[in-house]
Amino acid sequence: MKQILEAVLSGEPGAVAGLAVPEHYRGVVVRKDEQAMFEGLESRDKDPRKSLHLDEVATPELGPGEALVAVMASSVNFNTVWTSIFEPVSTFGFLERYGRLNDLTRRHDLPYHVVGSDLSGVVLQVGPGVSRWKAGDQVVAHCLSVELEDPQGHDDTMMDPQQRIWGFETNFGGLAELALVKSNQLMPKAPHLTWEEAAAPGLVNSTAYRQLVSKNGGAMKQGDTVLVWGASGGLGSYATQYVLNGGGIPVCVVSSPEKAEIVRRMGAELVIDRSAEGYRFWKDENTQDPREWQRFGKRIRELTRGDDIDIVFEHPGRETFGASVYVTKKGGTITTCASTSGYLHQYDNRYFWMNLKRIVGSHFANYRESWEANRLIAKGLIHPTLSRTYPLARTGDAAYDVHRNLHQGKVGVLCLAPEEGLGVAPEAQEFRARHLEAINRFRDV
Ligand SMILES: NC(=O)c1ccc[n+]([C@@H]2O[C@H](COP(=O)([O-])OP(=O)(O)OC[C@H]3O[C@@H](n4cnc5c(N)ncnc54)[C@H](OP(=O)(O)O)[C@@H]3O)[C@@H](O)[C@H]2O)c1
Repeated sequence: MKQILEAVLSGEPGAVAGLAVPEHYRGVVVRKDEQAMFEGLESRDKDPRKSLHLDEVATPELGPGEALVAVMASSVNFNTVWTSIFEPVSTFGFLERYGRLNDLTRRHDLPYHVVGSDLSGVVLQVGPGVSRWKAGDQVVAHCLSVELEDPQGHDDTMMDPQQRIWGFETNFGGLAELALVKSNQLMPKAPHLTWEEAAAPGLVNSTAYRQLVSKNGGAMKQGDTVLVWGASGGLGSYATQYVLNGGGIPVCVVSSPEKAEIVRRMGAELVIDRSAEGYRFWKDENTQDPREWQRFGKRIRELTRGDDIDIVFEHPGRETFGASVYVTKKGGTITTCASTSGYLHQYDNRYFWMNLKRIVGSHFANYRESWEANRLIAKGLIHPTLSRTYPLARTGDAAYDVHRNLHQGKVGVLCLAPEEGLGVAPEAQEFRARHLEAINRFRDV
């Protein structure tokens, strides 16, 4: 591993070619024999620091159409929180099911799960049949794993019946020194970013792109008023950028003055601090309070000078969904990709059908959408929202921060990268300097 790292740090793109692939590597895992460890606890009390371990694991054999990547940096997504607290289900069920598919996928069904759905790094080796990528290429990987043997996914790769999220529903994820991906997950790393910055946007950036911009999601247009929940969080920090880039008007919901300040620095003018304004959409566990929806809607109209919401960027789920449906304009759209606070949603259907609203389910992004989202990063039109990084051995702390909503934007993890700040191409320094303020907007806040 030392040789690989030296080769990457030498700055010679091809220096890793021909190096022996280590038989073992260090990866962040959950262990199958611990999947019942949190039984009986409340979600909040399930602690990722107890279930995520940095273990030495065997390097998987490289199959056709695959690539082994030396991972310089990764980032924590909420899916790693879900895996680490074994909710809503243990991810070992996904690995078992995937393992039954064919001889090659059997490798994924192991008593440990190497997690992580983002990476930046250098291609170490490619399997038979890979021509687009070679050892030494600097890459990021999107997390869509598909087989494409059935017709359903041929227009929109997210529709593949064998669609999986790499590092969540498959093994050998990015929170590790090495990762195994299908070569068609690879995309070029933006040369003006450090390893940790490049690894941060991946999953959430592509997800926000589909959910809001793509015709498969909200199909946002200029002038649309968009309600963004968690606007300084992982998804929200990209959604806010997309609304501003696309000529829309974001109404950003956050939960502290510090978060309000960050979204203002991104350029958002209409901000709601949900904690300060004390919205309580539920009177008790089973009863919502429509007066609180009305108070929220009134506040939105006050900020927008009378406009209602064209698109809601939803992901908190149960706690906010009733309010989201209520505040959406006649003919407007609620796009949802998650249910962080609970997946059994409740809303008043009268406001929905009488006003001809639409609810659009969205999940990650197809190949093309992922490329488009990555291209915008490379063009400096969307920026990483990295707030801090942890070393690989402290991934549990990083996941704990995200689980407890103690973080801003994205939390990064240094894998092989020995320190922050490495990986910027010399020829991209000037371009970087032009965007430095935006790149650092979330740092250390
Ligand atoms: N389907 C997909 O492809 C996909 C992709 C990415 C993420 N997700 C899911 O989307 C969710 C969010 O992911 P993320 O990366 O954005 O997480 P994150 O970084 O934790 O950000 C979520 C933000 O939502 C807000 N929030 C949390 N609970 C809330 C509640 N009860 N009411 C209102 N706002 C609440 C918080 O902001 P404030 O406290 O500032 O309001 C938080 O910062 C997770 O459940 C994740 O698994 C799904």
